[in-house]
Amino acid sequence: MSLPSARILAIESSCDETAAAVLENGRTVLGAAVASQMEIHARYGGVFPEVASRQHILSVVPVVEKALAQAHLTLADLDAIATTRGPGLAGSLLVGLNMAKGLALGANLPLVGVNHLEGHLYSAWVTQPGDETNEEPQFPLMALLVSGGHTELILMSDHLNYIRLGATLDDAAGEAFDKVARLLSLSYPGGPSIQKAAEQGNPMAYKFPRAWLENTWNFSFSGLKTSVLRQVRELESASGNSPAEEFSLPVNDLAASFQAAVADVLFTKTMSAAREYGAKQILLAGGVSANQVLRQAFLDQAEFPVNIPPLSLCTDNAAMIASAGYYRFVHGHVDPLSIDILPTWPLS
Ligand code: KG4
Ligand code: ZN
Repeated sequence: MSLPSARILAIESSCDETAAAVLENGRTVLGAAVASQMEIHARYGGVFPEVASRQHILSVVPVVEKALAQAHLTLADLDAIATTRGPGLAGSLLVGLNMAKGLALGANLPLVGVNHLEGHLYSAWVTQPGDETNEEPQFPLMALLVSGGHTELILMSDHLNYIRLGATLDDAAGEAFDKVARLLSLSYPGGPSIQKAAEQGNPMAYKFPRAWLENTWNFSFSGLKTSVLRQVRELESASGNSPAEEFSLPVNDLAASFQAAVADVLFTKTMSAAREYGAKQILLAGGVSANQVLRQAFLDQAEFPVNIPPLSLCTDNAAMIASAGYYRFVHGHVDPLSIDILPTWPLS
């Protein structure tokens, strides 16, 4: 079935990136712009919600203008406005949602609210101009969604059709990366710093536990985090007698061993789920899918075709929201201008 064509402008402001993108037919990026606040939040060692909302207020208009200018389009050329409704930081979400409402009202365009996690899944549909011949993901697909706030295995049998098979019972994978990075005095965001440190480390140096949670598709990373903490304390107390300046924590080995434990569990459980549900392919999505060790595990060992978004589409961006927005729009999901932000994942 061929779907109608549509150009959608989307806004994403759920956390610390203000992003806008214009997509054609849910796939082709015509224009995209991002204002990252990462450097500002790095000073606090994590996202400072009040600061984040105020940065979004400063950036949202220029970012939308930039995306439209890059696409050589005006609001009159669009078919709908999409925006992230949640989950995310309330103050941050409100900025993007209200901007989208204002644009929809002013230009008399339909408004489409998108779940942020649904957006991450749709990063697999996004292509650059000229690459449209790239095959679209094939259903049924098994998606591993690994971000700062979520770790979920989702079976997608068709567009907008999601079954959440399992999720983390405690920390999300990205959250574990961020917390362990802090423990090892590595900078925020933790994922990229751990990955960098791990490049110089031995992944077999420490045998950290893997929580397999057999017979469920759930995950747990808090035990792993505690185990790294215990190992750090042990190393520190074992060095108790040596002068402080002579002791340095084996950060690279700790980072590599931690990263290997996370990647092992994510890879193994996703493969089992894909086999069990007869998936045609595997889809990785969310910030943690930027992790090189995780990407490589899937590329080298998966028995299924694996769709891994380019790095720019793994972390938060508006192209993925525009893509999900397109599929919602052409399937008749238009929202009233009175919609509120959405704090949870409603699609499972
Ligand atoms: O999807 P995302 O940008 O935001 C959320 O929706 O949460 O994910 C952010 C998370 C952070 O926890 C960050 O540490 C992690 O993704 N991350 C990584 C890497 N790059 C970002 N984790 C592991 N390895 C990376 N290279
Ligand atoms: Zn995200």
